[in-house]
Amino acid sequence: MLEKNLAVYPGSYDPLTNGHIDIIERGLKIFDKIIVAVLKNPAKTYLFSLEERQQILRSIFKDPQKIEIDHFEGLLVDYVNRKGINTVVRGLRAISDFEIEFQMAMMNRKIEPRIETIFFVPSDAYSFLSSKLVKEIYQLGGEVGSMVPQIVDLKLKEKFRQQK
Ligand code: PNS
Repeated sequence: MLEKNLAVYPGSYDPLTNGHIDIIERGLKIFDKIIVAVLKNPAKTYLFSLEERQQILRSIFKDPQKIEIDHFEGLLVDYVNRKGINTVVRGLRAISDFEIEFQMAMMNRKIEPRIETIFFVPSDAYSFLSSKLVKEIYQLGGEVGSMVPQIVDLKLKEKFRQQK
């Protein structure tokens, strides 16, 4: 039996931003539980290790009945199948996201027609926010503390202090 009220929200979370949190909170209005699945892609260089990315998420989301933190490697659809889940959640910030998100949703559907992708639109305050830009700003000495949870703000400062 597939669990209907469960969804997977996959991503790199390198690092978690307030935009991700906004999507998770919106998702919980529809789903009883969301599994936040952190991608481990050995071919990719991350600023934060898989353990760090998961640890940040676990420090923010403390109710595993509602938000479970997990990780996956390989194809998303394989992971979602293994979990016996129907639904993938993604955030759609702007038109620029649409093309890649549409491609991914259609490709995932091609591989596994059973799985649906549902998009949530974040608050307009986060419509331009991305992990990539956050990292770039910190690396260049800027601050966007209001865009990330406090723990991420601290860890970003630590990381880039170490690198200087
Ligand atoms: O936070 P991101 O980097 O935008 O998340 C992208 C993610 C993890 C959802 C996507 O890269 C993914 O699903 N990767 C797993 C590999 C896979 O299934 N690739 C085919 C996608 S069509």
